[in-house]
Amino acid sequence: MTATQRWRDQLLAWQIPEPILASAEDSPWVLPRHVFARRADVLLAEPEGASFPAAWAALDPPGSVLDVGAGAGAASLPLAVRSTHITAVDTDAALLAEFARRATALGVPFHEVLGTWPATAHDTPPADVVVCHHVVYNVPDIGPFLTALTAHARRLVVVELADRHPLTSLNPLWKRFHGLARPEGPTAADAVAVLAELGITPVVRHWRRERSASAEHPDFDTLVDVTRRRLCLPRARAGEVAAALREAGADGSRDLGSSGADIVTLTWIP
Ligand SMILES: C[S@@+](CC[C@H](N)C(=O)[O-])C[C@H]1O[C@@H](n2cnc3c(N)ncnc32)[C@H](O)[C@@H]1O
Repeated sequence: MTATQRWRDQLLAWQIPEPILASAEDSPWVLPRHVFARRADVLLAEPEGASFPAAWAALDPPGSVLDVGAGAGAASLPLAVRSTHITAVDTDAALLAEFARRATALGVPFHEVLGTWPATAHDTPPADVVVCHHVVYNVPDIGPFLTALTAHARRLVVVELADRHPLTSLNPLWKRFHGLARPEGPTAADAVAVLAELGITPVVRHWRRERSASAEHPDFDTLVDVTRRRLCLPRARAGEVAAALREAGADGSRDLGSSGADIVTLTWIP
């Protein structure tokens, strides 16, 4: 089996068994927009990790930036000072609006593309630097996605991802509440193997997120609600989820499930 097929199979294995899904009061596929908005603000105030310096160095002299799966702009907006223009691609209109609000305040020229990458690639101009943070675990068909990133970059591609699929942090809770074993991957190493199949050898940097992982949810109740939904549990069981989270040491500031502290930055020259 190829690494690309393995990536796909591992992502498809995250499907939730039908009886559990059918009984869910709320959709478990939560997009916690506040997490990404808060992350953008934390990183705008002070960038951290290996992705920012790599992209920053590639923007000397200043150039254009394409941010794929931009969310509120955590990957690209910290680069605004060296960006002649930022294009933000995302499937979520509300998050693109968060991006636009921040880009306008910074005074950087920008444009938004609402839609799925790589389907939108034809309508998206190339850029000097392409950034894509915390998106690839959403993408089973990873080959064309990465190829289109590479094809749109003139100087550098920067892909940031958690060391392993972010939802693995909820696996002990799935076991506890449903007796169900969940997948353990894919991981960043699997992404590197996919890139190798595409003929790309990225520079791989491992680092730990400190500040941007420490203030993701506004309060403990929001963490409980997001976690309860992800676990397909009814509202009446929120108290049990809160107890399990406290036992696991989650204090409400970290988002179990949509981030993690162990991060990998992959960069390559197109
Ligand atoms: C986990 S968030 C990360 C947002 C931002 N890059 C950050 O680091 O905070 C993933 C984002 O990618 C978007 N997304 C997921 N798959 C996508 C795709 N195939 N094309 C475009 N956007 C996508 C989602 O709507 C969401 O805004």
